[in-house]
Amino acid sequence: MVYSTVEAAATHLDLNWVRAQFPALSLEVDGQPAAFLDGPGGTQVPQRVIDSISEYLRTSNANTCGAYATSRRTDQMIGGARSAMADFLSCDSDEIVFGPNMTSLTYAISRAIGRELGPGDEIVLTHLDHDANISPWRALEERRVKIQMVEIHEQDCTLNMDDLARKITPRTKVVAAGYASNAVGTINDVKTIVRLAHDAGAMAFIDAVHYAPHGPIDVRELDCDFLACSTYKFFGPHMGVLYGKREHLARLQPYKLRANTNAVPQRWEWGTLNHECIAGIVACVDYLADLGKSSSCVGTGALTRPVEQRSAMASRRESILAAYRGIRAHERELMRRMLNGLAGISGLGLYGIADPARLDFRCPTFAVRIPGHIPLELATKLGGQGIFTWDGNYYALNLTERLGVEADGGFLRIGFVHYNTEEEVDRVLEGLRRIAG
Ligand SMILES: Cc1ncc(COP(=O)(O)O)c(C=O)c1O
Repeated sequence: MVYSTVEAAATHLDLNWVRAQFPALSLEVDGQPAAFLDGPGGTQVPQRVIDSISEYLRTSNANTCGAYATSRRTDQMIGGARSAMADFLSCDSDEIVFGPNMTSLTYAISRAIGRELGPGDEIVLTHLDHDANISPWRALEERRVKIQMVEIHEQDCTLNMDDLARKITPRTKVVAAGYASNAVGTINDVKTIVRLAHDAGAMAFIDAVHYAPHGPIDVRELDCDFLACSTYKFFGPHMGVLYGKREHLARLQPYKLRANTNAVPQRWEWGTLNHECIAGIVACVDYLADLGKSSSCVGTGALTRPVEQRSAMASRRESILAAYRGIRAHERELMRRMLNGLAGISGLGLYGIADPARLDFRCPTFAVRIPGHIPLELATKLGGQGIFTWDGNYYALNLTERLGVEADGGFLRIGFVHYNTEEEVDRVLEGLRRIAG
């Protein structure tokens, strides 16, 4: 299908160009186009990410720090990937740590911080968070550290900021909170969370895994101490990335092998990393930068020019920011359409922000239930029509327990990213309407 430039102009996103980048988007299931509404579980990748991974394996495959060409190329490539992620997060490249995923990086940091904690110390967590930002901190209860859980407002699944402010005290050593909820899509006021943590002398750890495909991240502006994300959630390979303030990465003591270097940030990276996926990360960030060049040119008649010729002067960071302006505008259209459609389905319950006037506070991630149909049944029926959604708790276990839906199959989660279309919104709405009857 060709998406018109009228549509693109309305959304400031060149959707034809976008979709052409992702080979998986042309997959079919039983003759029907696949609708990937499973972005919160992992997004598809542009062709250039696939190419970059195989090119690395073809031309540069080696371990690091060797005295020969492919090893040197590997060192150089990893350095380039740190710069790419530094542009993505707005920090310096020696503040970027690579790891297998966000969960293991969070455990690495929580263990290291935990070495300095004991009875009388407290850690503040939230009911809205993925378990990867809960269990690694709860593990410190074995050191008799006390965990404080921040409440939510049940009616719209937003964080109770008054409760958060109450629970942060001079005993608090860490506040760990999500940037956005992977279950219900709520975007938290992380800037205020970081400020409240710092006012009490605590460190702030932000889980940006769900937010990263939807909005720009600026760790300097947030002033957070740590921020973790996963590149497979924003169009890259299966890897985790951690930002840490340089002084923390240098001062805290990681559990590590003796032979491993003490240099920052490598002292936080254990064993041999997944080099080919790190090569894919560079391509993924460059994809976003090119998207920014294409989206920022909408309206100037430049859509037909090759992407390399557009906005050649913009820095990678500026282009990434432009990409997110386009992404956000397009996702707002998808959210508006989805919320209007969901409101008309009889009996359907939506968990999270439902007010179309409050789109600034949510991502296009929708948790729903239809009475009489467990979420697995909904996902299976939609899956049979080529519409890929998810069911269950997606590890946001505290939230499904808190809302009383855990024993009952959790939610059906429908998640959109910028490569999804209004037609796909209509398809999933029609599928739900038919099931709801
Ligand atoms: C909000 C959020 N945090 C953390 C994680 C865990 O990320 P990883 O799979 O990289 O460990 C996920 C994965 O779904 C997530 O959605």
